[in-house]
Amino acid sequence: MQELGRLEDLPQDYRDALNRNHLVPLWPSLRNVMPPHVPRPRTRPIAWPYQAIRPLLMQAGELTPIEKAERRVLVLANPGHGLEKMQASASIYLGMQLLLPGEWAPSHRHTPNAVRMVVEGQGAWSTVDGEKCPMERGDLILTPTGLWHEHGHDGDEPVVWLDVLDLPLAYYLEVAYHIDGPRQQPRPGRGDRAYARGGVAPTQVFTRSAKPYPMLRYPWKDARAALLELATDRPDLDCVQVTYTNPETGGDCENILGFYALMLRPGQTLTLPARSPACVFHVIEGGASVQAVDQHMELSTADTCCIPGWASATLRNASASEPAFLFLADEAPLHRKLGLYETRA
Ligand SMILES: [Fe+2]
Repeated sequence: MQELGRLEDLPQDYRDALNRNHLVPLWPSLRNVMPPHVPRPRTRPIAWPYQAIRPLLMQAGELTPIEKAERRVLVLANPGHGLEKMQASASIYLGMQLLLPGEWAPSHRHTPNAVRMVVEGQGAWSTVDGEKCPMERGDLILTPTGLWHEHGHDGDEPVVWLDVLDLPLAYYLEVAYHIDGPRQQPRPGRGDRAYARGGVAPTQVFTRSAKPYPMLRYPWKDARAALLELATDRPDLDCVQVTYTNPETGGDCENILGFYALMLRPGQTLTLPARSPACVFHVIEGGASVQAVDQHMELSTADTCCIPGWASATLRNASASEPAFLFLADEAPLHRKLGLYETRA
């Protein structure tokens, strides 16, 4: 490959003249911004064990009242991007959020899309676009772009959930903002009931939803049952995975990030090919190891890890008797829409 000229090769007076005129020579940086054959992601493979997060999150509950936080969140920041950037990958933000009994995280809406994956506790709920969604462990709750949402807690123990947002992308695009609103009045009608059975959706001519996001809550019991039945029905299938979809369009449930549930059979080792999007793994039940790039990460229940794009990953369920269930988030819908999606063997 041709060696390109360096900045230091240029006379200082010429570089000064470029600076004064807000001009930059491309060739010294060309190989960095467009490296040969494969990108060089800043995203590093990294794991965030829940046992490290939980005590600090509970401490935040003592140190900072909800009124002073609005959202009491510890952000899972990837050091490859710098902690201050508060991003797990180029487009994914992860936060672990605590809501204590009786607390209310007030209503607001914002441009970034979000989802919640409930990690522990009972009795919390999210009202999204007027739909009151119970929050049970393993449930996926959507709060897509522009929809009002608030969180409350009628139970008697702390509730924790994992927030996944496309905030880094919205921030980079300079479109990130929020609006505060009044407390929502829940309305009747729940998408998790109307669309409870895949393949049987409310008939369009009478009841087609005017909502772009007709289903906001994806109960874990349904996703778990779908995985177990898929595993039984297809013993030949290596990747026992389901995608959280919009039940009316069949497409991804949100526009930018994709969300999935994966089951590893007892003792299974699964190698996923290198793909352009970065990916997050969060263990809902059981334990798994994730090997990617130069990192071997042992994940227990409620642990979370992130791997960069362009890296294959080998997942292993160490239990010989029990399946492991993981929640996945990736940037695949975004890459596909932009025509940038790639898989490499
Ligand atoms: Fe929010």
